[in-house]
Amino acid sequence: MAKYYDLVRGLHILAVIAWMAGLLYLPRLFAYHTRAEAGSQMDETFQTMERKLLKIIMNPAMVVAWILGLTLIWIRSRGYGDGVWGPVGAFLAQPWMLTKLAGVVFLTGWHHYLMVARKRFERHENTRSEKYWRMVNELPFLAAIVMVLAVTTEFGG
Ligand code: HEM
Repeated sequence: MAKYYDLVRGLHILAVIAWMAGLLYLPRLFAYHTRAEAGSQMDETFQTMERKLLKIIMNPAMVVAWILGLTLIWIRSRGYGDGVWGPVGAFLAQPWMLTKLAGVVFLTGWHHYLMVARKRFERHENTRSEKYWRMVNELPFLAAIVMVLAVTTEFGG
């Protein structure tokens, strides 16, 4: 199994890129959507764009990123049997991996927050301002900076 590790890791990073692209784009659509009058052509267009972005790109990318990330952990746990790696528990307990997994929990929670926000736009119940959506848009990128530097530097490992 260990020989597939790098292939799975590469596919994992690709899924993460697609997921992050959606997490950074959807709040930007929300920001412009705040300018649209309820029921107008512009409102309908933004609703379609937001729904498609979430259902066609973001949801599948998040699921694939999770499946491949868990597969990497599983391969490592199998690899431990073959003496390729140390125990998976010790691997997951390293400061850099804990930092990364905390980021994963935040991004997954943020993804769900955006799903609820999209529904609110659909029901014309959004109360957040254009400035709010522009500001919070940076949060996933800040998380990604911490996570990518954690997994590449493996600090404290
Ligand atoms: C969704 C749940 C996720 C799980 C369970 C997960 C798990 C993992 C695991 C076990 C590895 C292998 C680490 C190693 O062998 O050194 C890995 C690699 C990686 N992950 Fe994730 N990950 C997830 C999401 C993410 C996210 C959201 C990002 C970025 C924002 C990310 C970025 C990376 C990168 C860049 C690598 C490659 C590290 C390297 O090759 O040095 N992952 N992931």
